[in-house]
Amino acid sequence: MMATRIDGKDFAEQVSKEVAEGVKDLKASHGVTAGLAVVSVGEDPASQVYVRNKVKQAEACGMNSFHHVLEAETSRKSLLSLIESLNNDLLVHGILVQLPLPAHLDSRDVIQTIDPRKDVDGFHASNVGDLWTSGKPFVPCTPLGCLKLLKSVDPNITGKNAVVIGRSNIVGRPMAALLLNESATVAIAHSNTKDLPALCRQADILVAAVGRPEMIKADWIKPGAIVLDVGINRVETADGRGRLVGDVDFEDVSTVAGAITPVPGGIGPMTIACLLANTLEAAKRTVS
Ligand code: GUN
Repeated sequence: MMATRIDGKDFAEQVSKEVAEGVKDLKASHGVTAGLAVVSVGEDPASQVYVRNKVKQAEACGMNSFHHVLEAETSRKSLLSLIESLNNDLLVHGILVQLPLPAHLDSRDVIQTIDPRKDVDGFHASNVGDLWTSGKPFVPCTPLGCLKLLKSVDPNITGKNAVVIGRSNIVGRPMAALLLNESATVAIAHSNTKDLPALCRQADILVAAVGRPEMIKADWIKPGAIVLDVGINRVETADGRGRLVGDVDFEDVSTVAGAITPVPGGIGPMTIACLLANTLEAAKRTVS
């Protein structure tokens, strides 16, 4: 039997619609319009596409959006001073600094300057700490999107074996924390993991966030497992136009898995929808 295809685009539209309702309600009840500030430094072409989408979708659901595009050579001092001014701006409820930053800027240092109450990416150490200690953090948007899609196909995560491939601060680590908070048994695999296929075959839930096109094959998968593919990789095609693929070989793995997210149209759209949900939540917290 072929795996169920988990449609992230549909689900994300539903989340965005709910956010738009929430934005309207907050405006009506408290006169507050949720506002998102997006800061990008330099011209990384992939980042530009993501950032433009974030700004566009924030506006589409009725939020104020503030897009700051800084030159690649921007100094630490001027970036931090922009963040300080956004921290103090009452119209801004969420601040996102698009990563990666140019090499001369230390992303950890920059993120620590964001007011944790406006850190809608959930990257500030205070939110990371809250995530691992069962507080009330802003949860990073991509793992949050994964969890929402996972729960849509399997609400009962307790006691399941989960394997997360990748240990980044943006996806792997927070994903593992979320799954642990749902009482899954969690392993985090990385480039030094021994016999990765054997580890993956134990997974009822497999999250792939490695950035290697179609690395994960059908014989790595436990029959019926749920596979969440966070990878977005551009590969060459014969016509020279290129094509987006995930870290999972979708066709192959679909013959064994129980459910699987496609690329594109899986996790990607959920990331932005969750960013909007976090921004609305940040705005609501200012009035409660
Ligand atoms: N770069 C890749 N993903 C993300 C994300 O979720 N947030 C930010 N700020 N930068 C990213």
